[in-house]
Amino acid sequence: MRRPVIAGNWKMHKTLAEARALARAVRNGCAESADGAADREVVLAPPFTALAAVAGELEGGAVSLAAQNAHWEDKGAFTGEVSLPMLKDVGCGMVIVGHSERRQYCGETDAVVNRKVLATLKAGMQPIVCIGETLAEREAGRHESVVAEQLAAGLANLTPGGLLRIILAYEPVWAIGTGRTASPEIAQEMHACIRKRLAEGFGTSAGEVRILYGGSVKPDNVDALMRQPDIDGALVGGACLEAESFLRIVRFQP
Ligand code: PGA
Repeated sequence: MRRPVIAGNWKMHKTLAEARALARAVRNGCAESADGAADREVVLAPPFTALAAVAGELEGGAVSLAAQNAHWEDKGAFTGEVSLPMLKDVGCGMVIVGHSERRQYCGETDAVVNRKVLATLKAGMQPIVCIGETLAEREAGRHESVVAEQLAAGLANLTPGGLLRIILAYEPVWAIGTGRTASPEIAQEMHACIRKRLAEGFGTSAGEVRILYGGSVKPDNVDALMRQPDIDGALVGGACLEAESFLRIVRFQP
């Protein structure tokens, strides 16, 4: 059984006061949902500046804390970077790695993603590894090969045991922040293809890996997406910035 994960990526949003209020509302909303939130894992990924405040709000509750990025070295002269031990210290158990915005705007390559994945596991934390093709790649019919390359390079040197500790997120770049969600059928097709590639590389543990879909997930499309057999959750951007819409996504009804 793959326990569904609903993760909110706050990106570069929220002051401290706003972050506290949103985290508190999500925590309370999850605690109230006797109807369903118990069988699913809820994760919040605020910006670095709000991690400590959000950790305080979430303490003792069921909602987990993730960072949006991390450096692979434990410490050193890396101005502007934040290390995994620092993130663990502030209460993060998870880190988003290789988000397409970091690949696109910060030059993150599959080799960098791989270093971060291995370092995150070594630190005893869980990476949420993002992959996905651009519109041009899809239109050229290269979507499956692009994702296969990202998997092969991004997960290089991972053991089958390591694979069981990661979460994958398939996020087609053309669907992120555009309001243009992949149809449940397109998303399912890609998730099945990803799982098949994992099985080729790692064997039967591929069946246990959770693969989230991301890209304009909203309250009105989450149910249909979650009905697909290989979609195990959602990585939510825009719709996670308000408690009400995020909680509706958390309470999806497949
Ligand atoms: P979106 O972002 O939901 O705003 O499309 C998703 C993401 O980037 O993880």
